[in-house]
Order: sequence, then C-alpha cells, then structure tokens
Amino acid sequence: MNNGITLVDLSGAPAREQAFWPTVVLRKAAIETEIERLASLGSPADGRRVASVNHPMNTGPVPAYAPGIDVQIIVLKPGERSEPVLRNSSRVDMCIRGSGVVRTDSKVFEVEKFDVWNTPSMQPQVVENNGDDLFVRLSYSNAPLLERLEVHYVNDKPQVIESSGVVDDTVKGQRRARDASKPIPIGSDGAQLLGYEWLVDIDPVDSRALHWPWKEVAPHLETVYGMDLGYTGRHLYVLYNPATERRIGTSPSFFATIAKLPPGKVDKPHRHTSAAINYIMWGHGKSVVNGEKIEWSEGDLHFSAPGWSIHNHASREQGFIALTIQDHPLHIANESLLWQETLKSPILKLGTDYGVQTNLGSLGE
Ligand SMILES: [Fe+2]
Repeated sequence: MNNGITLVDLSGAPAREQAFWPTVVLRKAAIETEIERLASLGSPADGRRVASVNHPMNTGPVPAYAPGIDVQIIVLKPGERSEPVLRNSSRVDMCIRGSGVVRTDSKVFEVEKFDVWNTPSMQPQVVENNGDDLFVRLSYSNAPLLERLEVHYVNDKPQVIESSGVVDDTVKGQRRARDASKPIPIGSDGAQLLGYEWLVDIDPVDSRALHWPWKEVAPHLETVYGMDLGYTGRHLYVLYNPATERRIGTSPSFFATIAKLPPGKVDKPHRHTSAAINYIMWGHGKSVVNGEKIEWSEGDLHFSAPGWSIHNHASREQGFIALTIQDHPLHIANESLLWQETLKSPILKLGTDYGVQTNLGSLGE
C-alpha cells in the first residue's frame, strides 16, 4: 500500500549512539609497498595508478579513511600524466615524493615534495610527472560524502561546456534577475520571503586552485616550532584559501594545517565533530584517541580523530611536522561544528558562538 515505504515509530526512542571509527595508522612501509605495486602495473586504461585508503569500519559505498574523507595514493611514473576529470567533489593534494607540473584553467605550477595545492569542484586539472623519480601524492576529497548522498558527479571525458567554477567577469556588474525580486519581510526579526531568482543565482566566490610551495611554507613553521610550551593553542598554520571565507578552509570541505610541534609538547585532551587525518612529515609522537594509545612516526598516515571522540597528541624528544586534513569548513557550513577545547571547557558551536581564546596575546609578557 505504501510502495515499500514504512513508518518508523520513534516515539520515546533514545538518540542513536554514535559508532566512532577507531583510530588507525597506515604505516610508512605499507604506503611504500603500495606505491611500488602501483608503479609496477602496466599503464591502466585510464592512465590512473590510484589506491584509496580504506578504514576497516567503512561500509561504503566507496573507500574512505574517515566517514566523509577519502585519501588516495596517486602515482605517476616519469613522463606520465593524468587526464582531466570533472568532479563536483573538491580536493586537497600533497606531493610526498618526486616532482611534477599541475596545469589548471588559470595557471600552471610546479610541485615538489610537501607542496600542497587544492582542486576546486568542476575544474579540470592535468598533473604530469616531469622528473626522473616516481611522482606520488596524497589526494584528499569529500567524495565519500557525495557518494553517500548519491550525487557524486564524475565526468572523465569532459568535452561539453560545464561550470568552470571561476567567476565570469563578463557577467559582473550586470543587472541580475533577482534584483527585480524584492525581499519581503515577515515579522520583525529577520524572516523574509524571497523569489525563485534568489535560489538559482547565489553570490559567487572566486574559487581557484592555489598552491602552497613547501619551500615558502617551511620557514614560517620555525615560528610555531619556537613557541613556548605553555602556549595553549596548536603549533600550526592553516593553508588558507580565501574562497572558503569565514569557514577558514583550504577547500570548501577541509582545512589543511601544517603543524611543527617542539619537543615535549603535550596537547590537552579535547574533541570536535570534525574528523582529522594526520600525515607525519617528520619526527614522531604519540596520541591517545578514545582511550586508545597509539604511536606514529615519519611517513605514517594516522586517522587521528574520529569526530567527537576525545583525543590528544604529543611530541617526544624531537618534535614532529604533520599535515592535518579536517572536515571543519563543512561542519561550519552545516552549523554542526561542536568544539570542546579542554574537557573542562564549555561545548561551543563554532561559527555562531564566541570562539576559543588561547593565551597567544599574553605570551612573553
Ligand atoms: Fe583535535
């Protein structure tokens, strides 16, 4: 009668308990073995030598290392290049070996070890290995979320004109149809009625591929590395893409940060609904995540914080450098970014509550 639709009685039912994916580490040796395996394959039909890191708790529909984040290991042999693919997912990439050239609609840039760049949604990109070694990158995307929503658009033979994601200057300054649709106030505290034109003509932002060369980023990390151990914030910089505006991201879904912790730094246990994945670029350390102790070192890929699980990280006698990818901007857009800076702190909803205040302003006084 109901075409298979059922009505589920939730009257009086408790909220569902969340099933945190446990913290796991993909070791450097396993990554290196996979890189060699991918390089040993005959050239795949589509030219892509790719392995996606799959968490043991993942139930699909595509491989993922955090529920909403996939990490692909992509290998190009010398002279190989990837063909452009249009996807409505967006990416953040880090080169972890070799060197290459990235070509986008708007610019061409060379990348080498530890360079980071983003790929906006629906912007074709060609990556070429112009060196003598394998060119290997870690590529993080929000594809698992879009796949779960059954709306991941992927076109690997882009020919027709599609949205480039870049603001078209020729339409700037023209009168917009929505200008003829005047907002109608409802009541006196901000509610309004808007015409259809407002739904289909969103204010655009200039979203483009940006590049953070390691040789420009690395010297700045000395500043955070040298900060007092009593600093209550994190010893890092965000690789900020202005297209993410107040959501402080590197892509619309993720921030990428690079941290350089001094020796002997122990972060306070904390939690946030954003999930985090750390790639250890140098040094070693340890974490406690949901009560589970785990150690990691250079070259490891650590699923370091399942959303809303209590965790902290600590350096040892050397310190460490790590790239962290976290789906923080996605949550800000959803008004779902809960953040508890220490277990004694209030639970804040970042983006609408007044945020966390570190002791940065009083250090050195
Ligand atoms: Fe954290």
